[in-house]
Amino acid sequence: MKILVTGASGLLGLNLSLGMIETHTIVGVDRSKLAGTPFELVQADLLQAGACSRLIDQTRPDAIIHTAANADIDACESDPDGAHHLNAELPGHLAELCAKHTIQLIHISTDAVFNGAKDVIYTEDDTPNPLSIYAQTKLNGEAAVLSVNPDAVVARVNFFGWSLSGSRSLSEFFFNHLSTGKQVNGFTDVYFCTMFVGDLADTLVRILEKGLSGLYHVVGSEALAKYEFGVRIARQFGYDPELVIPISVTESGLKAKRSRNLRLSIHKLSTDLGLEIPGVSTGIEKFYTQHQQGYPQKMRSYQQL
Ligand SMILES: NC(=O)c1ccc[n+]([C@@H]2O[C@H](COP(=O)([O-])OP(=O)(O)OC[C@H]3O[C@@H](n4cnc5c(N)ncnc54)[C@H](OP(=O)(O)O)[C@@H]3O)[C@@H](O)[C@H]2O)c1
Repeated sequence: MKILVTGASGLLGLNLSLGMIETHTIVGVDRSKLAGTPFELVQADLLQAGACSRLIDQTRPDAIIHTAANADIDACESDPDGAHHLNAELPGHLAELCAKHTIQLIHISTDAVFNGAKDVIYTEDDTPNPLSIYAQTKLNGEAAVLSVNPDAVVARVNFFGWSLSGSRSLSEFFFNHLSTGKQVNGFTDVYFCTMFVGDLADTLVRILEKGLSGLYHVVGSEALAKYEFGVRIARQFGYDPELVIPISVTESGLKAKRSRNLRLSIHKLSTDLGLEIPGVSTGIEKFYTQHQQGYPQKMRSYQQL
């Protein structure tokens, strides 16, 4: 299968592209951050008029995994119009083109579409109620995709791993503090079901291969507080877990509002794929193994100088 990955320089896009090169032909869409990748790169600013159409004509993919977005929650608060164009309008446009050319599409969305007020696990049938501009624009993107292309998959995700910049993910945030002996805050009152990005890449490929469509929660099978996640990273790497300071998200001073309960059910995903979905514990072990094998350095070697 030839798969076009948008946002190839991003945390998800780069891991996904590298993870699929053994089994698929990958073309990554980049805005000149990458060089020397073991997969083909095409340059495009997806917001330029006609860019998506040109990309499809030029590369003729069987499938597109659309990861490109403004995924910086606080940056979206400062630029709501930009967030709307990128996170809401662009996915709808891409979905229309995929329907026209019979290209499979996985559109990446977020667990943050829920406000977290419900005290149980969220299923795909629960009504989203976004708290931030980021979450609202991502929710609008989901609706735009499914209204024009019901064969597409909208995947609500949350993930961690190593990134091009070395500082994009929550796991790197903890690692970067802990590895230099610095204290780091961890929220005790924000629960999520984060998934190791390598496991997410494998799951997205299975979704494509199985030909699923519609809305799916694609997260890990285990819920934990962000504080606990930090403690587990510390333990895995042999750093002092007491460097992770338990605090409430209300003390964080972050600009955009955050949901406290991002526990998402993976029942539909696991049933439709006929697979067990991995949890965070094995994911943290894989994150550690990648570190021992020099994966973070390998990632950074793809940075355009
Ligand atoms: N990180 C998480 O834990 C998380 C959680 C839930 C959902 N998500 C969703 O997962 C997806 C991937 O997130 P991420 O963390 O990998 O994001 P990221 O690291 O911030 O990467 C975003 C990517 O989008 C690209 N991009 C932005 N504007 C573009 C444009 N106009 N044209 C072409 N490319 C453009 C960026 O390119 P440049 O590098 O050139 O800027 C970058 O490659 C997003 O849809 C996000 O909403 C992420």
